[in-house]
Amino acid sequence: MTLPHPIPYQGSKRKLAPVIAQHLPPGIETFYEPFAGSAAMSIFAAHHRLASRFVIADSLAPIVELLRAIVEQPDATARRYRELWLGQPEGDGDYFNRIRERYNEAGHHVDLLYLVCRCVKNSIRFNRTGRFTQSVDRRRLGMHPDKMRSAIFGVSVILRGRVEFRVGDWLDTTADSSPADFLYLDPPYLGTSTGRDRRYHQQMKRDELILGLEHLREQRIPFALSYDGATGAKEYGPPLASSFLTKSATVVCNGRFCQ
Ligand SMILES: C[S@@+](CC[C@H](N)C(=O)[O-])C[C@H]1O[C@@H](n2cnc3c(N)ncnc32)[C@H](O)[C@@H]1O
Repeated sequence: MTLPHPIPYQGSKRKLAPVIAQHLPPGIETFYEPFAGSAAMSIFAAHHRLASRFVIADSLAPIVELLRAIVEQPDATARRYRELWLGQPEGDGDYFNRIRERYNEAGHHVDLLYLVCRCVKNSIRFNRTGRFTQSVDRRRLGMHPDKMRSAIFGVSVILRGRVEFRVGDWLDTTADSSPADFLYLDPPYLGTSTGRDRRYHQQMKRDELILGLEHLREQRIPFALSYDGATGAKEYGPPLASSFLTKSATVVCNGRFCQ
């Protein structure tokens, strides 16, 4: 069965969710997804009742607002998207640029949804100052509003009443987790986080990530991590210490497996 997925976010774990979910323990109290993006793992886990409660978080405030609006105000969110989508005159690439400019000034979450749906290959890009820089894909119009509406309502039904939304750094948004919980960690990958126009608005420093993982291990808080030390023969950075690979509660996927 295909689960609803309103945000075609780059790096989404929608297709890999069933594989990653095999590593989740039974009886999770709260499932944390602190690098949520499109929240693909939470949608999957909530649909399959793999946890009682969910915490969905990201350091990009508009993506969290978008997820909150999808769950709590599905009708208003679907209507706003429809307005934006119908407002685009065919062949007018400047319409996209005007929405992009407005998003970069005001950060409205449905503007972000439109940009993600309409930009080149759904490949979001942000510059150093956090401005959305990706261009319009002239060959496609972006997800049709009818399909979007059904995906938005689908996610709302799956998550409503069981989820809390948080904005911030993953260490802060997971600070109240305990050994009865489970964290799914999908930070920006080393191999995609460098260069002038970066894939995500914020990058992850490897040392900070490792310190955070060590803290989780000390606290005996179970987690799974998607990590791209290598894709095929190409290595993006040094591998994680082998101690992370041997802990039963830790799953480390290389780029080939997870991207
Ligand atoms: C690889 S994407 C996650 C994709 C997600 N698993 C999905 O299915 O769509 C990484 C996300 O981490 C967020 N991020 C980057 N640095 C962060 C930080 N320090 N704390 C929390 N979120 C962060 C980015 O905004 C981005 O949405």
